[in-house]
This record gives sequence, structure tokens and C-alpha cells, in this order.
Amino acid sequence: MRRTLVIVGCLAAVAGAVAWAARSSRFEQAREAMSRGAAPGRLGSRLNSLGDRPMYRAFADALDAGPGDDVLDVACGWGEFLVNHAADAGHVAGIDLTPEKVALARERLADRLEAGTAEVVVGDAATLPWPDGHFTAVTCMDAIMFFPDQPAALAEFHRVLQPGGRALISFAAEQLPEGVESRTARGVAGTYTAISATAARQMLEQAGFDPVDVTWVPIAGEHQRIGGVLRALGGDQLDVVIGRKPAAA
Ligand SMILES: C[S@@+](CC[C@H](N)C(=O)[O-])C[C@H]1O[C@@H](n2cnc3c(N)ncnc32)[C@H](O)[C@@H]1O
Repeated sequence: MRRTLVIVGCLAAVAGAVAWAARSSRFEQAREAMSRGAAPGRLGSRLNSLGDRPMYRAFADALDAGPGDDVLDVACGWGEFLVNHAADAGHVAGIDLTPEKVALARERLADRLEAGTAEVVVGDAATLPWPDGHFTAVTCMDAIMFFPDQPAALAEFHRVLQPGGRALISFAAEQLPEGVESRTARGVAGTYTAISATAARQMLEQAGFDPVDVTWVPIAGEHQRIGGVLRALGGDQLDVVIGRKPAAA
């Protein structure tokens, strides 16, 4: 009887240790993902999408995707833009560094994946797994500020675009003071680097985009309440930077 109790006690201790290790590694993974702007879980994704709805709409209007479009959304998160704002594009693709987000995006795009009109992969924005000239448009929302090498990512966006293709990028939900070209800060969703409109334009031009348009979209109207929250967090504007890859000569 005593031996049985000792064995049961040991097994319980081992099970507890395994459960603790699993929990702490999950905790570590969540912490790492959050440091690059990935709000954890379905609820985190939902809240992030709720706050970003004005941005998706601004991007969808500017993108104006149609059946002839093959759109890549870089750092797609759980696929909100592709699912609800790029449905008219003939083909869509998403890539994100966080496996949990990619799994959710795949779940939400299941019908399109099955139909062969979508693909979603785990990967880094700075090394895109597609050949040159593959897409008609690249979008990247609420994410580039978390990338360690923004110019490397922009060079990749340019490489995978067809000649004449467009890239639509949001750099940070804040406008920097006159003369300040970049600011690295710790926000609610990890450390990010915001850059000025001038710096964003230069970075796109250096990657080969021409022309480059920078549009500031104020959050207003039906999104006043969300705008109020964003203002409290330090930003109330969206920056939609659009660059075009020059058509081949
Ligand atoms: C704030 S979320 C935005 C998600 C989505 N673009 C949206 O607007 O709903 C930032 C996303 O960037 C992803 N991310 C961060 N660094 C990345 C990188 N180097 N390559 C690809 N994805 C990255 C994170 O995993 C996270 O899903």
C-alpha cells in the first residue's frame, strides 16, 4: 500500500512537472509572439481586428481588388483582411511568422484553400517563399513596424510583384513630429519602430517603387469610439503608403 502511494505520488509529481513545462513553453511562445505584435489567441485576434477595421476598409478601397488580382497579405495575422476585405480578388495568399495565426487564417479561409484560390504559410516577411513577379498586389497592415529589417521586407515585396503591381503598407498609427524620422517605442503590442512619411517614401523608393504615394487617413465617423481608444494609445491616424513597381520598359 505504501509502495503504491509512493508510485502514485511520483507519477503525480512527474505529470505536474510535465504540465508546468508545457504551460511555461506555451507562455514563452505567446510572449515571443506578442513581442512582434501578435495578440494571443482567437480573442486577441478578434480584438485586434475590431480596432483595425477602419484600416482594412481604407486598404480595401485603395486596393480595389478584382478577379484578375493575386493579392499577398504579408503578416496576415489570422487572415482578417483576406477573409473579409479581399473576397473579390481571384487569388489570395497570406504569410505570417506566428504559426498560431497561420492556423487560424487557414481555418477561416478553408473554403478558398479547398477551391485552390488561397494559400497561407508560416514565414518571415524578409524571405518570401514565392518567385519573382508572382503577385499583382502586396498588402502589409499594422505589422512592418515590428520587423527588424524594414528595407529587406520592402525589397521582397518589390521582388514578388509583377511589373506594374502595387504595394500597400501601413507604417504606424501615428504621425511623427516635424523633423523626427523614426521613433522606437514599447507599445501595448511589443516594441515597434514608427517612421516618418518622408522616411517611408524614401524607403519605398530605395526598394525600387515609383511612384510612391503617402496618404494619411483620419479615423472618424462611425469609428469615433475606436478612434478615441487609439488616440489614448498615442495615434489616431492611419498611414496608407502605396508604391507601384514600374512597368517593364
Ligand atoms: C498587429 S498584427 C497585424 C496582423 C494583420 N496584418 C492585421 O492587420 O490584422 C502583427 C502581425 O505581424 C506578424 N509579424 C511580425 N513580424 C513578422 C515578420 N518578420 N514576418 C511575418 N510576420 C510578422 C505577427 O505575427 C502578427 O501576426
